[in-house]
Amino acid sequence: MTSTEKNLSLDAQNLHKYFGGVRALEGASILVTKNKLVSLIGPNGSGKTTFFNVVTAWLEKTIPKEHEEMESQEYSNSIINWFSQRFDRSPKVEHEDVGHVQFEDVRIDGMNTHEAALTGMLRTFQTTRNWPKLTVLENLLVAPHKQTGEGFFNIFFRKRKIREEERRNVLKALEILDFLEITHIRDQLGEELSGGQLKLLAIGRLLMTAPRLILLDEPMAGVNPTLGNKIMDKILELKSDSTIFLIEHNMDVVFNYSDEIYVMARGKIIAQGTPKEIETNKEVIEAYLGADY
Ligand SMILES: Nc1ncnc2c1ncn2[C@@H]1O[C@H](COP(=O)(O)OP(=O)(O)O)[C@@H](O)[C@H]1O
Ligand SMILES: [Mg+2]
Repeated sequence: MTSTEKNLSLDAQNLHKYFGGVRALEGASILVTKNKLVSLIGPNGSGKTTFFNVVTAWLEKTIPKEHEEMESQEYSNSIINWFSQRFDRSPKVEHEDVGHVQFEDVRIDGMNTHEAALTGMLRTFQTTRNWPKLTVLENLLVAPHKQTGEGFFNIFFRKRKIREEERRNVLKALEILDFLEITHIRDQLGEELSGGQLKLLAIGRLLMTAPRLILLDEPMAGVNPTLGNKIMDKILELKSDSTIFLIEHNMDVVFNYSDEIYVMARGKIIAQGTPKEIETNKEVIEAYLGADY
């Protein structure tokens, strides 16, 4: 592995996703460097959420017809890899032209959603989900994280360990509430929260699992600018431990906070660069996306 590869969090190349006749992704590629904030922008319907869905294995990528043969080639490659690993030869992952998603050194495409969620990448959704009848604190405690509690032997022999783990989780949840400055609403029910508070809670639930790659789909939507900036400041603080991949409509936020920006239109990446580079690339952006973007 070269040093550049070691610095890569996400390597998603040549992704296609078709919904019947709708070509949501048409060969989109993105590289996300570790401990950076990388944004994906583009007009509504350009394929941004679909890109997240394929990257996190919520949706399976489409193999375009002309590449079906290559897919069977890829299948034989995976057998070769299995053998080379088994016999302790260096496994060589050949990425064919059918596209691939790699998170750090793990190949994600081909995994199911659950397997992908256990690799250390985690996402939020455009619409915030939570438990309406649980309090904010309880919402954090039911966030998915590794728990000892499951399994027959655990129940009988590991009660103490479970209690310690619960205590640790509560402490962690309290720390996160403090970090997000929402300790004062910890006993409020999920259904009583404002849009902005729900966004913060969603980030809190994410933090319970300490993901190495965080994918945020419009975390600022429906949030007032003051709170939006606060959320972004919190997200920025996470860069020391995590990598952030952000879909966001608010261009001030995108241009102020991103290390790198990718521009998507009609399922393809049409521009990529630092905020400065994209800004000076404005003509391209305007030509493709209209002056509003
Ligand atoms: N589950 C789906 N079934 C059918 N079409 C979909 C589905 N999800 C997205 N699309 C279509 O794919 C295109 C890209 O959508 P999306 O990825 O949500 O765009 P964005 O997030 O950039 O607004 C749109 O034309 C949308 O209607
Ligand atoms: Mg979207």
